[in-house]
Amino acid sequence: MLTRILTLVALTAASSAAAEADRILKLPPLPVSATPEKDEAMVELGRLLFFDPRLSGDSSTSCASCHAPEYGYGDGAELSRGYPGTKHWRNAQTLVNSAYLTNGLHWDGSVGSLLHQVPGAMGTAFAANIDVTMAEERMKQIPEYRNRFLEIWGEDPTIDQITQAIAAYEHSLVSADSPFDRFAAGDVFGFSPEAARGQVIFAGKGNCVSCHNGALATDEDFHNTSVPRNPEFLEDPLVQVTFRSAMRGFGVAKEVYEGLDRDPGLYAVTQNDEDMGKFRTPPLRYLTFTAPYMHNGIFYTLDEVVNFYDAGGTEDVFGTKSAMIEPLGLTDQEKSDLVAFLESLSGTEIVETYPDLPDYETVEVAVKTSAGAGDFAANASTATPAAVAETPAESSFSSTSAGLVIGMSSGTAPTAEPSSGRREVIVQVGDNLGIIAQREYGDVLRYQDIYEANKDLISDPSNLAVGTVLVIPEL
Ligand code: HEC
Ligand code: HEC
Repeated sequence: MLTRILTLVALTAASSAAAEADRILKLPPLPVSATPEKDEAMVELGRLLFFDPRLSGDSSTSCASCHAPEYGYGDGAELSRGYPGTKHWRNAQTLVNSAYLTNGLHWDGSVGSLLHQVPGAMGTAFAANIDVTMAEERMKQIPEYRNRFLEIWGEDPTIDQITQAIAAYEHSLVSADSPFDRFAAGDVFGFSPEAARGQVIFAGKGNCVSCHNGALATDEDFHNTSVPRNPEFLEDPLVQVTFRSAMRGFGVAKEVYEGLDRDPGLYAVTQNDEDMGKFRTPPLRYLTFTAPYMHNGIFYTLDEVVNFYDAGGTEDVFGTKSAMIEPLGLTDQEKSDLVAFLESLSGTEIVETYPDLPDYETVEVAVKTSAGAGDFAANASTATPAAVAETPAESSFSSTSAGLVIGMSSGTAPTAEPSSGRREVIVQVGDNLGIIAQREYGDVLRYQDIYEANKDLISDPSNLAVGTVLVIPEL
């Protein structure tokens, strides 16, 4: 008898929910480009690049470091990790279905499209922190990559192609097989009674659908829902450093960002007071795998999220809180039904294996062993690879065979306090010398790390001063 009642309730709820189904539509397939055979090759190349830490300045951080498949293509932390030595002030977003977003990426909508986002993420000091020349150069020195670029584009790797390939991989990250999708396609029995009742609350008493609508359950608009602040924002100095430097980059006034105890969201982009605390409504299609939630990862469970909305959010710190966020008066049953509905929006987990990455070319190289390599600091800011190549040509070299040679082109011993300016990291392959990275002096500790890890390989550690060359067979 009980079962029959539940089934009836489910069917009634399901049919009224079906009327709402067109407000959360099925996702259409996403075309990558017009040439499917190239698409496949591009997606596969993009997949390798996505997981390849060599596309970051110190070869430590790939896209997948912060967008890991096992964390729903986020990083599982409240606030995202950053490039070594930095910490992000926001939660890393999932990339699943992000190819569908059309009104700006990031929590504040500040990035136009995936094609803008990739070079942005690569170049940003607190993400991958690599410059374009270095990225292209590293790709060229990996024969398998070089061949793959040649096959697809008929030329050596460029930043545009690296971008296209990674974006193509992101296009492949689609989740559209949720129980809700099956329900919307007419399969009412694949949908639990709880989820069906939750759907009614989502569209009715809960008023979630006002902002979470359309195929991704987002209006892609910006709202202040009064999410509580994350204490880490103020307490972790690294978060503050990154936040302040990003705000400066946006052109936000110092008096403003120094006075904030939380992320101003869209305000950073528009610098319009009405946009304080507004964030882009996130899609809800992969929630099961993407905790913690919100721009600052403050909630770990969907129960917490629903309790937050049920309470009508929190205090209106910026005076910009949405009028749509009001106490809901949900019963415990209604809350758990709503959670069941949210869960029904996630399909199966996208399982990805970390690929075996192709190796650098092994070459005969000359290793610079003496301290007479010269100080490049003087011309560092204007140095081109050609200009730098001239100086070491005058220095003494001794021959050895190894993988890559990374040289610190200037500066004092890595432990010394740097003065100012930048140093180059140079790579030498045969007779060719090129800059593969530029580092601020503040990065000095990283070289110490490289040194510590590679001590045994260094021909003469006492030379680890000006012009030291570290032989690093594998990056
Ligand atoms: C150090 C961590 C980190 C690295 C590395 C990183 N990201 Fe992100 N990513 C983030 C964070 C944090 C956000 C949210 C940023 C914001 O809102 O300001 C984000 C946002 C995004 C978004 C926007 C998604 C949306 O829903 O709007 C995309 C797309 C993205 N990243 C792709 C990439 C790609 C591709 C790479 C590699 C080239 C990459 N990221 C490297 C941390 C990282
Ligand atoms: C006024 C528009 C609005 C309404 C109404 C609204 N949301 Fe949201 N929702 C947002 C915004 C904006 C965010 C991101 C807020 C932030 O991070 O500060 C969000 C975040 C979320 C998240 C976190 C997703 C993630 O990936 O981090 C969930 C889950 C969610 N909302 C569910 C709901 C539910 C359930 C309701 C109804 C009870 C609801 N929302 C009502 C705008 C809204």
